[in-house]
Amino acid sequence: MSQDNAGSPVVSAADQAQEHPGDALENLLHENRRFAPTPEFAAAAVVQAGEYDDAAADAPAFWAKQARSLLSWSKDFSQTLDWSNPPFAKWFADGELNAAYNALDRHVENGLGDRVAIYFEGEPGDTRTYTYAQLTEEVKKAANAFEALGLAKGDRVAVYLPMIPEAVITLLACARIGAVHSVVFAGFSAEALRSRIDDAEAKLVVTADGTYRRGKPSALKPAVDDALQKPGHTVEHVVVVKRNGEDVAWTEGRDVWWDTTVGAASAEHTAVGHEAEHPLFILYTSGTTGRPKGILHTTGGYLTQAAYTHRAVFDLHPETDVYWCTADVGWVTGHTYVAYAPLINGATQVMYEGTPDSPHQGRWWELVEKYKVSILYTAPTAIRTFMKWGRDIPGQYDLSSIRVLGSVGEPINPEAWMWYREVIGANAGKQGQKKDHPAPIVDTWWQTETGAIMVAPLPGVTATKPGSAQVPLPGIAVDVVDEMGQPVSNGAGGYLVLREPWPSMLRGIWGDPERYKDTYWSRFETMYFAGDGAKKDDDGDVWLLGRVDDVMNISGHRLSTTEIESALVSHPSVAEAAVVGAADETTGQAVVAFVILRGSAKDDPDIVTTLRNHVGKEIGPIAKPKTILVVPELPKTRSGKIMRRLLKDIAEGREAGDATTLADSTVMSQISDSLRK
Ligand code: WT7
Repeated sequence: MSQDNAGSPVVSAADQAQEHPGDALENLLHENRRFAPTPEFAAAAVVQAGEYDDAAADAPAFWAKQARSLLSWSKDFSQTLDWSNPPFAKWFADGELNAAYNALDRHVENGLGDRVAIYFEGEPGDTRTYTYAQLTEEVKKAANAFEALGLAKGDRVAVYLPMIPEAVITLLACARIGAVHSVVFAGFSAEALRSRIDDAEAKLVVTADGTYRRGKPSALKPAVDDALQKPGHTVEHVVVVKRNGEDVAWTEGRDVWWDTTVGAASAEHTAVGHEAEHPLFILYTSGTTGRPKGILHTTGGYLTQAAYTHRAVFDLHPETDVYWCTADVGWVTGHTYVAYAPLINGATQVMYEGTPDSPHQGRWWELVEKYKVSILYTAPTAIRTFMKWGRDIPGQYDLSSIRVLGSVGEPINPEAWMWYREVIGANAGKQGQKKDHPAPIVDTWWQTETGAIMVAPLPGVTATKPGSAQVPLPGIAVDVVDEMGQPVSNGAGGYLVLREPWPSMLRGIWGDPERYKDTYWSRFETMYFAGDGAKKDDDGDVWLLGRVDDVMNISGHRLSTTEIESALVSHPSVAEAAVVGAADETTGQAVVAFVILRGSAKDDPDIVTTLRNHVGKEIGPIAKPKTILVVPELPKTRSGKIMRRLLKDIAEGREAGDATTLADSTVMSQISDSLRK
């Protein structure tokens, strides 16, 4: 959910008075509330407590068992884990399987062809329902169409689509033929799209004419045209889904309509097995430097952990549950928990194209009521937005079908957790009836790199605790360590690390094995460094405290401070820029930029708007700073490093902290004087 907030050139009083989520977490580490599963829920849960011991006894054997029970292999594997060349892992390496066959065909062969796979709801209110049989047919047609356009196993496909069923169909069609998809979130700009197309050397782009945003058509195809305008790219064809019917420019020979190619293709297509370590997808994510990293995931291990976690963490009963993950397919959550896991597990899911406030602020709850959603998976930023809109809105709907609630993307503050439980999880009907036992909440910690959930309660086993992701999943080795890599004791904080390889771990950074080692495996040689700060409470439960690097988390979306700084200094009016993530009540963090302007730009009254739009063009609307502060100087150490910590103090309305290591000790007062004016 991206929000495009209007920029304000100064830090407002409301921002200054605001509480810092980090501090709130510190204070609440002695959380006493516990919510144990009811005996009924526990008895019927698909995963029981014994699973932790099973997995601890022999984690690779545990994963091998999951791989064979959750997936169908066209060739069984003989070796589970090859960790002979760390940090490069191979899981189930001599096995073969087809991701699309596992998600689709086998369910149809097993007599589940009439089960609904996707209930699609467009923003304007149009609906489509796909059974497993119908979705299988669509994917076979798309696979044939893509092959007819020259796509072969190993080729890369850039996907730039809104949340419509064709997004899932495209991903599965690529997987079916062994092509590697690289989804670029539709909120990214033409520039961002082009750099990802170039890095992956994509041969095909799949896009749409556009989508709908808050009741209005919004275009997508022009960004693809812009991205491909400069020669030197590898794209041969652009497949265009007709979604909003707006006019689009057309490049003959390159562009083809989805309806005419996929629509005309044969619905006969045999899935062949691909090696377990065959690349499934690349997904770009922001790191600490300016250039996004292409995170590479492969087939067998990724699908195993995706399917296992989806079943275990959400207590999935595919015959009866209706599942809805609100994430966009442009992010990893939309890959693992929309496109792959639910279908592998034969679940019925809801897919929604639009924003939560269109055409009214009750839209999500209307959908929960309409489709009788029983498992809802969303982000804290959405929950905090609903809190702001008020409990009366969900109170007008019957949410009694909900039995498990999930959270992902950023730490969920205990207040939001309790609101989620009481207002959504306890709703037993429109008349304000309350359930005796609200739905359990599972806070799930993971990353694009981990591929699937790593830390989360199990709803039928764990007594949940507001604000904490709590426990590593069975088969996962998580720890919190200090600077020296030593495990911290209960009650202390440090860095979150992963001690053992896991099936859905990234296999590297596309085209850059050194960067993979440096980024994740150099800080603590033998452990994976996640980039998150964490604490263990007195019970040993894990609390995530946010990033410890230059990565920001805005509404659960990952953005890099350096990437936005580079975008700002690429504008001729900007001499220097520093970006920080400042605590924000709704979005978790908000982008605040400090800029030093060049010459005449200082007199331009529209400069802040100009610069926000410039960042929007360079990266995408989600990266536009909420606030841009024009300053005369930036605080730097003697070695020239910007002290973001001091800027963060200002952005969050605090007195700036210790500034004794500054090269010029007067800089902080120069900055505060200039902001006071
Ligand atoms: C970063 C990963 C995982 C899918 C969405 C984001 C933060 C994620 C939680 C959580 C606290 C969380 C971390 C992580 N994060 N989930 N439950 N509690 N923090 O994927 O874009 O790769 O971002 O999101 O900081 O490192 P991503």
